[in-house]
Amino acid sequence: MSQPTIESILQEKRLFNPPAEFSQGARIKSLEDYEAIYQKAAADPEGFWAELAEQELDWFQKWDQVLDWQPPFAKWFVGGKINISHNCLDRHLTTWRRNKAALIWEGEPGDSRTLTYAQLHREVCQMANVIKDLGVTKGDRVAIYMPMIPEAAIAMLACARIGAPHTVVFGGFSSEALKDRLVDAQAKLVITADGGFRKDKVVPLKPAVDAALADNAAPSVENVLVVQRSKENVAMTPGRDHWWHDLQAGASYDCPAEPMDSEDMLFILYTSGTTGKPKGVVHTTGGYNLYTHVTTQWGFDLKDTDVFWCTADVGWITGHSYIVYGPLSNGATSVMYEGVPRPSNPGCFWDVIEKYGVNIFYTAPTAIRAFLKAGEHVPNARDLSSLRLLGTVGEPINPEAWMWYHLVIGGGRCPIIDTWWQTETGGFMITPLPGATPTKPGSATRPFPGILADVVDLEGNPVADNEGGYLVIKHPWPSMMRTVYGDDDRFRRTYWEHIPPQDGKYVYFAGDGARRDEDGYFWVMGRVDDVISVSGHRLGTMEIESALVSHPAVAEAAVVGRKDELKGEEVFAFVTLEGTFSPSDQLKAELKQHVVQEIGAIARPGEIRFADGLPKTRSGKIIRRFLRNLASGEALSGDASTMEDQSVLEKLREGD
Ligand code: WTA
Repeated sequence: MSQPTIESILQEKRLFNPPAEFSQGARIKSLEDYEAIYQKAAADPEGFWAELAEQELDWFQKWDQVLDWQPPFAKWFVGGKINISHNCLDRHLTTWRRNKAALIWEGEPGDSRTLTYAQLHREVCQMANVIKDLGVTKGDRVAIYMPMIPEAAIAMLACARIGAPHTVVFGGFSSEALKDRLVDAQAKLVITADGGFRKDKVVPLKPAVDAALADNAAPSVENVLVVQRSKENVAMTPGRDHWWHDLQAGASYDCPAEPMDSEDMLFILYTSGTTGKPKGVVHTTGGYNLYTHVTTQWGFDLKDTDVFWCTADVGWITGHSYIVYGPLSNGATSVMYEGVPRPSNPGCFWDVIEKYGVNIFYTAPTAIRAFLKAGEHVPNARDLSSLRLLGTVGEPINPEAWMWYHLVIGGGRCPIIDTWWQTETGGFMITPLPGATPTKPGSATRPFPGILADVVDLEGNPVADNEGGYLVIKHPWPSMMRTVYGDDDRFRRTYWEHIPPQDGKYVYFAGDGARRDEDGYFWVMGRVDDVISVSGHRLGTMEIESALVSHPAVAEAAVVGRKDELKGEEVFAFVTLEGTFSPSDQLKAELKQHVVQEIGAIARPGEIRFADGLPKTRSGKIIRRFLRNLASGEALSGDASTMEDQSVLEKLREGD
C-alpha cells in the first residue's frame, strides 16, 4: 500500500465512466452538460451565481451588487439580507419536509436520536433564546467545543440565527489550544458538554474548558453553557456555568431569524498554516450559504429521498459545510455519528450505513486505508446495497485505496467523487460531478462550474500539461474566505502574494502542488508549505515546534512530516536539548505528552529524534528538506554545501 507518487500517478490510466443508470437519474447527466454549464459559468461567473442565488435561497432582501472585488477582498451579494439558519430550517417547515428527518444521530455507545426539521427548528430556537439571555448579541463570538452530538449542530444554527459568529473548536484539541482560540476570537460564550465518547472512553470537555478559563486566561468569556452527555460529575462555577437542560426547560420556541447582511460574518474556523499561530479563517453568510448549498446538491447529486452521511467532525470545515449547512439548506437528511472506527468496533461505519440505509457516504482516504487494512470481510458482513454514491476529501487518495473503495464498499456501481478543497474555500472546488465526469483513481478531476482553477509556476505562468506547479484559483467565488480574523495583512501575504497578479488580476494561492493532465484533470500532489496532513488533519509544523520548545528541556525543535501508510503523514520531530538535560526514552514520552497537552492528541509526534544540532544554512535557516530526507531514511536531496556545519548531518543520520 503506497501513497501516491508522481510516478505512480503518471502511470494511472484507468478511466471509469459514470454508470449509465446513475447518469440517467442525475441532475447533470453527461460530460457535455457539465462542459456547457462550465463554459457558461466561466463566461459570466457573477451571472451564474446570481441566478442560482435567486433560485435556490430565500432572501429577506435582494442584493444590489453580485460581486464587489477589491483584491484581495471580496463581497458577494452586497446589500442582500439573508439568514442561513432560516434557509436551513424555517423555509422547509412550510413544505412536506416539515416532518422529514433533518438529523439522524447515532451515539458511540449505541444510543440514537432523530430530529425532524420541525423538531430541529424548535431546539435551535430554544438555544438561540438561551444564548440571547446569556447576553450574546449580534456580532458577539461564541465558541463551540463539543462532541459529535446534535447539540453541536443546534448550537451552530442557533448562533447563525441570532447573528453571533461561531467558532467551533474540535473536541480533540487541548485546553491550551482552546484557550488560544478563545482569546483570538474574543469569545463571549463557550458552549460545551460535560464529556463526549471517543474510542470507548470519555473525553472530558468541561474540565478542559475550566482549564482554558483558569486564572482569567480568556477574560472575554462571560458564560459557559454545558450540555449533558457523558453524565460524569463536573464542577460548575456558579454564575458562569449553566446546564443547557435547565435553561432549555424555560426557553421559548419562538425566535425569529435575524436578517443578516450577506457579508456579515457567519463563523471563524481556525486552521493551521506556515507560521506558529493557527489563523482564524473568516466566512460570511450569503456566499457561503449559496456555495455549500449548490455544491451539496450537484456534487452529491442529492435527491430528496437520500440519506446522506459525511463522517467528518463538525470541528472541521467538512463538518460545517457537509454535515450541517449544505445538507440542511437543501432539506436533506444528514447523518451524524459520534464514534470513529476503533478496535472494539472496526465495522461501526458499515453498521451505521446498514442501520439507516445510507445512500451517499463521504469520508477521508485515511479512513479508507484503515478499512482496507482491516480486511473486506468486515464490510462484506453488512448490507451496503443502499449506497449509490461515494466521496472522499482531505488528502490525495492513493489509487489502491480508491479501487478498494469502489469495489468493496461501492460494489462497483457507485461513482466516487474525490473532492479537493480547503477550510479557506468553504466548499469543494475541484470534483467530479458524479453523473457527468468520468473518474480516474487519484484525480479530483475538474473544477466545479464557476471555479477557474489553474496550475502555474511561481511567476504565475500556466505550466504545460503534466508538469507540476502551484494550484491557483483565478476568479473570486462566493464561499471564499474573506480574511484572517483580525489580520488582513496575513490574509494578503498568505494567499495573494506568492504569485504575482496576472494582467492585473489577483490569483488565490492554495498552498498545494498539482498537475493537470491532457484531459484537463487535476492531480493534487499535496502541500508545498510547512503544513502536514496527519490522518487528514491539517497541522502546521511550526505549531508543533512551538509546542515542543515551550517545554523546559527543549532548546530547539524542527518538525517534518514522514510518510505513513495509514495516516498519510506522521509527525517526526528533531529536538536539541538544553544543556542540563540528557536524552532518554522517558523524556521522549514526556515531550510527546507535552505536545498532546499543548495542541491535542492529533499532533502527537510519531517519533522524536534527539540531536546535537539541526542542519542550517549559513544565515541560520533550518533546512527542512534534509530533515524530511532523514526522517524517511532517504538520500539527501540537493546540495549540502550551503550548510553552516557539515558534521551536523552525519550525527543526525546516526541518530538512534
Ligand atoms: C488537502 C479540508 C488532495 C489539500 C477540506 C488542502 C486534498 C488541504 C483533497 C485542506 C483532495 C483536501 N485531494 N488533497 N481531494 N482535499 N486536500 O483545510 O492539501 O482541512 O490544501 O480542508 O487538504 O485541508 P483543510
